This record gives sequence, C-alpha cells and structure tokens, in this order.
Amino acid sequence: MEQTFIMVKPDGVRLRLVGEIVGRFERRGFALRGLKTLRIDRSLAERHYAEHAGKPFFESLVGFITSGPVVAMVWEGRDAIAVARAMLGLTDAAQAAPGTIRGDFSLSKEQNIVHGSDGPQSAVREIGLFFGEHELV
Ligand code: RTP
Ligand code: MG
Repeated sequence: MEQTFIMVKPDGVRLRLVGEIVGRFERRGFALRGLKTLRIDRSLAERHYAEHAGKPFFESLVGFITSGPVVAMVWEGRDAIAVARAMLGLTDAAQAAPGTIRGDFSLSKEQNIVHGSDGPQSAVREIGLFFGEHELV
C-alpha cells in the first residue's frame, strides 16, 4: 500500500474546508495514518518547496504557505499518490476539472486549497519533513 502527503493550505483552512477535504479522502477509501495542524515557518516552507527555489513565484509561495495554519496528513491506499493528485485537480485551479478539490473551491493558480505529493520520492521526503515516526500509525 502506498502513502502520500496531503496538506490543506492556509486558504483551505480559512475557507473552513478541512472537513470537506478529509471527508473526500475517507469516502474514497484511504486510511488516515497521520494528521495535525501547524503553522509552517519560513525554514520549513523553504525545505518543503525546495524544488521551486529561485523561481519568480517562490517568495510569494513561501509568504502564502506561512500565512496561517495548515493541516498536514498522511493517507494510505492503492495508488495513493496518483489518485490523490487526480482528486486535487490541476495546479491552476481555473483549469482544474469540476469535481476535483481545486476545481470545486478555487480559481487561483497559487491559492489552490491543497497540496499533494507528486511522486514516491516526494511522498517519503514530505512525510519525513512533517511527521516523526511516533506521530504515524
Ligand atoms: P503542490 O505542490 O502545492 O501540491 O502543487 P502542484 O504540485 O500542483 O504544483 P507545483 O508545480 O509543485 O507548485 C507548487 C505551488 O506553487 C504555486 N505556484 N504558483 N504563480 C505561479 O506560476 C505558480 N506556480 C505554482 C501553487 O500554489 C502550487 O500549488
Ligand atoms: Mg508540487
């Protein structure tokens, strides 16, 4: 069984979408292995989004992801990484299909409600960044 790291971003928390998003993953059949709320500091933001360092939107992205509490989760199930990415929808929410989380709740390219790991290496790296082994079941 595969695990993926999912995070409700500050806009999703502000819009009170945590329950909606958790519910979608539960109803799809995934198992919840870890969940917590936290405020990301600059250091963690830079590590989480290290692949985007130097890009024009990086400062804005760090500012956004540190702008309020997030909800970090580990979900487990068959093809969890790819299935979760499909549930999220395309990065630019204006292009995301209706029925996806981004396609239902955002029109923004940056403030797009939720993060999901983009591959097996990212999933392991991100789970390790946000969770200690005793915080996962
Ligand atoms: P995420 O990592 O948050 O799950 O999103 P993603 O894989 O779909 O997109 P990615 O390319 O990894 O970009 C990370 C986040 O950076 C913001 N972004 N802004 N202004 C822009 O051109 C731009 N491009 C990306 C978005 O918040 C995106 O989710
Ligand atoms: Mg990404």
